[in-house]
Amino acid sequence: MSTPALDALLSAVPGLRLLTGPADLEYYGRDWTRRWTPAPLAIAQPSSVDEVQAIVRWARAWTVALVPSGGRTGLSGGAVAANGELVISLERMNRVLDFDPVDRTLSVQAGMPLEAVHDAARDHGLAWPVDFAARGSATIGGAIATNAGGIRVIRYGNTRDWIAGLTVVDGRGEVMHLNRGLVKNSSGYDLRHLFIGAEGTLGVVVEAILRLTEPPPPTRVMLLALPDFSAVLKAFTVLRAGLRLEAFEFFTGVALAHVLEHGAQPPFAGHHPCYAVVEFADVAESGEAAALTAFEQGLVDGWVLDGVIAGSDAQAAQLWRLREGITESLAGHVPYKNDVSVRISALPAFLADAETLIGHAYPQFEVVWFGHIGDGNLHINVIKPEGMAQAEFVQDCERVTRLLADVLERHGGSISAEHGIGLVKKPWLAGTRSDAEIEAMRGIKVALDPDGIMNPGKLLP
Ligand code: MLT
Ligand code: ZN
Repeated sequence: MSTPALDALLSAVPGLRLLTGPADLEYYGRDWTRRWTPAPLAIAQPSSVDEVQAIVRWARAWTVALVPSGGRTGLSGGAVAANGELVISLERMNRVLDFDPVDRTLSVQAGMPLEAVHDAARDHGLAWPVDFAARGSATIGGAIATNAGGIRVIRYGNTRDWIAGLTVVDGRGEVMHLNRGLVKNSSGYDLRHLFIGAEGTLGVVVEAILRLTEPPPPTRVMLLALPDFSAVLKAFTVLRAGLRLEAFEFFTGVALAHVLEHGAQPPFAGHHPCYAVVEFADVAESGEAAALTAFEQGLVDGWVLDGVIAGSDAQAAQLWRLREGITESLAGHVPYKNDVSVRISALPAFLADAETLIGHAYPQFEVVWFGHIGDGNLHINVIKPEGMAQAEFVQDCERVTRLLADVLERHGGSISAEHGIGLVKKPWLAGTRSDAEIEAMRGIKVALDPDGIMNPGKLLP
């Protein structure tokens, strides 16, 4: 396909790889939300920062909207291109640029898959500790764009905590090297942190300096069966006090049933209401001893029903699969996803209110609860009944999201803990952010993207 705008792009960026075939438009125009029909103008696959800059300058001249694109594993529609946008896929910018053993940093291009980042850090005897189930497909640029959290936030924090510098091309077409790997830098606004979690609305993250850390200690993985949500919280409190927790994730028996249907091995004979996957440091078997003590206490007190500690790496991977396989096992149902958070201290009260709301609001739908409960982050997935139209289902779920947003506001929580706002959560941003904050966000957007070409329609209502 040739249009005057695309012809001008190819003359502005000679040699740029540009895809316009229907299969490519479909593939690169959507993310894991699958709610919107992809309709991008074309897909650009630049191979350098200079090419990205030239694309942004062209987009300003031709007033073409741009959608930065990583692995498109997002769940809020942040990477959807459904309105004639040019998708900038960072797929070809996927290399390690530098490793600095003194600074303990790894400089990478933004299109590098998360798993490749982990491998590269490991090759240098270190670790980049942010991790989540989509690690094989998600890119580091996408993780930065959403300030991704995942399964090890409880120990290491979010993506934001592990970024020592960013190179970005902003919506003005300016290349900025933000923070440049400095540990201390008290020189005014830290623009790096504006681009982390901006979902591509301020510019394109093209390179990142990642802060590395010591590899994790030897760990053990334990699965607990628990009678209810309050037992999950009790288990978290007791285990956190006695162990060095690397992860504490929970899911319900309903979630487990989906994963087992997808071929995972059942962990125990019986069915239980809730489960927790717990990974803890185990140096000289002291972790295991403390875990067993807590487990036995839980059995006596009634907040644990059953449990197993993996005896090998393969068994540990099997237990993790029960938690990490949930998203994939639900994907065929195109679930409506909630990704909410409150402070950990607010969890008991929030959970009680949310359970009541969801119980009343969705008597007719199957609801799957899981998530990073140790961080105060819950994923509440609602399953569409077979035969119900997608639009009608989403409308019904959104009616409940409005009520859930009110509950979150009462408990000081967030409508998006780690998936981002994108298109999906935009209507409820105002429950999490004040009018003054949203106005300031709009001002920042105008300063860095004066023509509004960077991922328009996403994040800001
Ligand atoms: C997860 O925790 O598994 C991810 O955030 C994905 C999801 O919520 O489906
Ligand atoms: Zn999650």
